Amino acid sequence: MENLDGFIEGLPKAELHVHLEGTLEPGLKLKLARRNNLDLPYASEDEMRAAYAFDDLPSFLKVYYEGMSVLLEEQDFHDLTTAYLEKAHAQNVVYAEMFFDPQAHTTRGIAFDTVINGIRRAQVDAEDRLGIQTRLIMCFLRDMPAESAMETLERSLDYKDWIIGVGLDSDEKGNPPVKFKQVFERARAEGYLLTMHCDVDQQDSTTHIWQTLNDIGVDRIDHGVNALEDNALCREIKDRKLALTVCPISNGYVTDSRKTAEIKTMLDLGLRVTVNSDDPAYFPGYINENLIATQREAGLSKAQLIQLTINAFEGSWLSTTEKDAFLRRLDAYVA
Ligand code: HPA
Ligand code: ZN
Repeated sequence: MENLDGFIEGLPKAELHVHLEGTLEPGLKLKLARRNNLDLPYASEDEMRAAYAFDDLPSFLKVYYEGMSVLLEEQDFHDLTTAYLEKAHAQNVVYAEMFFDPQAHTTRGIAFDTVINGIRRAQVDAEDRLGIQTRLIMCFLRDMPAESAMETLERSLDYKDWIIGVGLDSDEKGNPPVKFKQVFERARAEGYLLTMHCDVDQQDSTTHIWQTLNDIGVDRIDHGVNALEDNALCREIKDRKLALTVCPISNGYVTDSRKTAEIKTMLDLGLRVTVNSDDPAYFPGYINENLIATQREAGLSKAQLIQLTINAFEGSWLSTTEKDAFLRRLDAYVA
């Protein structure tokens, strides 16, 4: 098969599923620890990576939340965001919708304002300096009470113009979408778009995906690979033109497979599937590595790679005019 790595690297891309806190690379974590006078139990980046021992969602989340302890000041959130945006820009990401987890910080005594001001300043800087466009999606932690999510939602309203939508992440077991029905109703009423993680191979995965459609009315589904187990569910997702943000390298760490054959099946079914990096500092690989792994494993054609990229722009939360401008850029590249 033709080597398409260079074609993938050059594609102007959109990323729709990346957790900013999951882009905290070992080097930056050590640097921020030093700057904030914190002692980490690792002397080097290699030692830190060696301690990243996870094989399912809960064991990953433990490492992910521990890592955030170095994020204290507004400048830390700025530097974290800047590092991701520089990396994404280097991989020809021209547009990114990025998650952040405010409760993972407010529960440590960090003000919501500190978090969002740091991120926002980096977004504005990066757009000026690099031309990369971004939006922010605020995630609620589903293993915390719905009341905490509601308080976080209310706290965010001062910053409504800086946040395009809300999502739901963290440990899915026993925390179904319906637990947050009222929170998401309120979020919708406040003008936010809605997405939720339906992580791969969870207990009750297809039930949870149905709930996002019937009880929540999401505008997107994060992961959602298990929809393939239910033909009616696939039909409904297709009819609603919902994007599915799949993260193959991440899937390979927290399940038994990268689910790349499933990505190809979704393309064959005409679902709006996309490929993303999730937490690239922990599941090593940014968007290009994820696309390259998918292309090689599933044997995707150039046309299928283009379709994945179209899906990401079409499935984004940009206006039609903005989407069209990016799609023209993609056309020019392909030509
Ligand atoms: N799933 C659930 N929670 C998360 C993830 C994820 O992929 N990444 C960061 N928090
Ligand atoms: Zn995720």
